[in-house]
Amino acid sequence: MRAFIDSLMAKMTLKEKIGQLTQLTSSWESTGPTMRDSYMQDIAAGNVGSIFNAFTAKYTRELQQIAVEKTRLGIPLLFGYDVIHGHRTIFPISLGEAASWDLKAIEHAARISAVEASAEGIHWTFAPMVDIARDPRWGRISEGSGEDVYLGSLIAKARVRGYQGDDLKRTDTVLATAKHYAAYGAAQAGRDYHTVDMSERVLRDTYLPPFKAALDAGAATFMTAFNELDGVPATGSKYLLTDVLRGEWGFKGFVVTDYTAINEMVPHGYARDEAHAGELSINAGVDMDMQGAVFMTHLEKSVKEGRVSPARVDAAVRAILEMKYRLGLFEDPYRYSDEAREKREIYKPAHLEAARDMARKSMVLLKNEGDVLPLAASARRIALIGPLGDSKEDMIGSWAAAGDRKTRPVTILEGLKARAKGATVTYAKGAAYELGSTDSSGFAAAMAAARDADVIVAAMGEKWDMTGEAASRTSLDLPGTQQALLEQLKTLGKPIVLVLMSGRPNAIGWAAENVDAILHAWYPGTMGGHAVADVLFGDYNPSGKLPVTFPRNVGQVPIHYDMKNTGRPYTPEKQGQKYLSRYLNTPNSPLYPFGYGLSYTSFAYSPVTLDRATIRPGQALTASVTVSNTGKRAGEEVVQLYVHDLVGSVTRPVRELKGFRKISLKPGERRKVSFTLSDRDLAFHRADMSYGAEPGAFKLFIGGSSDATASADFTLTE
Ligand code: IFM
Repeated sequence: MRAFIDSLMAKMTLKEKIGQLTQLTSSWESTGPTMRDSYMQDIAAGNVGSIFNAFTAKYTRELQQIAVEKTRLGIPLLFGYDVIHGHRTIFPISLGEAASWDLKAIEHAARISAVEASAEGIHWTFAPMVDIARDPRWGRISEGSGEDVYLGSLIAKARVRGYQGDDLKRTDTVLATAKHYAAYGAAQAGRDYHTVDMSERVLRDTYLPPFKAALDAGAATFMTAFNELDGVPATGSKYLLTDVLRGEWGFKGFVVTDYTAINEMVPHGYARDEAHAGELSINAGVDMDMQGAVFMTHLEKSVKEGRVSPARVDAAVRAILEMKYRLGLFEDPYRYSDEAREKREIYKPAHLEAARDMARKSMVLLKNEGDVLPLAASARRIALIGPLGDSKEDMIGSWAAAGDRKTRPVTILEGLKARAKGATVTYAKGAAYELGSTDSSGFAAAMAAARDADVIVAAMGEKWDMTGEAASRTSLDLPGTQQALLEQLKTLGKPIVLVLMSGRPNAIGWAAENVDAILHAWYPGTMGGHAVADVLFGDYNPSGKLPVTFPRNVGQVPIHYDMKNTGRPYTPEKQGQKYLSRYLNTPNSPLYPFGYGLSYTSFAYSPVTLDRATIRPGQALTASVTVSNTGKRAGEEVVQLYVHDLVGSVTRPVRELKGFRKISLKPGERRKVSFTLSDRDLAFHRADMSYGAEPGAFKLFIGGSSDATASADFTLTE
């Protein structure tokens, strides 16, 4: 490879090299303010190394032909695309997949996405999004794996493995991108693209580990974030892109910016003009300019005038050409644009079945009073009420870029009808879910439909585009008139099952008090309606657990399970006392904690046992519990291990997830579950910023949620 690229680079002019560093969107869609209509001429002129938003075997072949046949050196294009939670067959949104805590299923979903995308000519996905997100106001919380470092890091690895497989040269794999590097999820006040400022310790302990995990799994590329961090836009951060990513971590792939992120360094107030922004970004470690055309327009001059070194440009070009080489594009530029494969792979029955299974696995049962679920055989008349009950476009959520929103998705109504077997399902939209809507014109029809029903299934939540990019909210309530309708439905005295669909934790305190059952279905994907029916009718026993804390109200944000204790913790024994860390009007506890989720069966945990209560560095202990299925159905439980480091050179979170296992138990069955824990699992950035564990006392907890109570104490000695 080296000799091939050396000889190719020896032939390249500076302009041709800069072309390789330029990525433009095809005319299909744009997610930013600028758009270049002349992208085909740009390809023919050798000014483009990569195109995104182009797909289908035919279209990518046509564009590739321009690059290969019309340019002097015939260097093939790299086709990138946002394959986030499925390509054509759409899986639940990423946050929903994370709720499955099923790493194999998540990897499999990414694998299928890669198979479908690569069959349509795509070489590279802008995924996984590995941003830790702890602010449900931020719309992009839906695109990641939630609030936790440990879970998020394992999911990052699983997704990279799924996309890239074990051989990039296989035409059914795609390059992965760890994005958005870094700390994008910590935007102030949850407003997208907003300022990020945090200590280096928080950055390194919480926000960077999933990126490192993606890199360890082999992620070929990284995407810079839009935000600034400590006063420096991530796209111009030498600290992030060179010192940490390449220096400390040894990253060998290439770095692409987010959409026009170089240009945005001007309004950030970090660059005088676009030429300056281009220089700052490439010198910081950016290799490819997404859509900004800054390198294309200014870089030649910057190099000629000595502000960017030819060596830096060469390093960027080499990293990109190497990736094209590894994909086999120099051997056959068209190897991914295969119409026969496209026909064979897209919407394959096995893919649809996997999407249905992933959707079931992602659903979290938040409440089930009086075992109203699964629906009893006596529930002959089902009233399905709500704007999300029969909406195809909402089922697949945001960033389902190539997903069909119009015909393919199975709605909840369709899913229930297909499964209802003799029961009748009557549908009324009832309420409006648009932000600020006061439309109650559908209430009467909804009440009429519900009046005769045995059970009301309320399909409510957020419209699909209320989460995702540029979709931040200051309220977490059910939007529009849904809450008002829910309150009216309650007056009928019928059992109510709320099927919540959204891409963020919502503040559903009223529903938590007043409806009988709540199932969080996220945006469940192409097969979502069938999956909802599978769960409601009990063909599948829900096993999802929240990957993110559900606050009682927006005023509690940020709220996450691994918070600090403070010097004045408000504990149950101190109820009612003032001058403690608490609110006057809301408990400190969330509505539903991280790791929480019910099942149609019940599980009991034995006390925790340890094989030793003291470990030295390099030694491990084993912590065990016996979990029993005490209910009447087979079910799956996510057994979770948390640790509290009681005293540190810097204060430590009250709990940190350090392990989990998803197990399946038949009624009456019991299983011993063991975790090993060593000082490596207890490491953090200490007061002097060195990384490692500190000797002292620890408490560990094992249970089915982050508020697990079964505990044991141990000590780490010097
Ligand atoms: O990959 C995305 C990114 O997450 C947000 N801005 C646009 C990119 C390309 O579509």
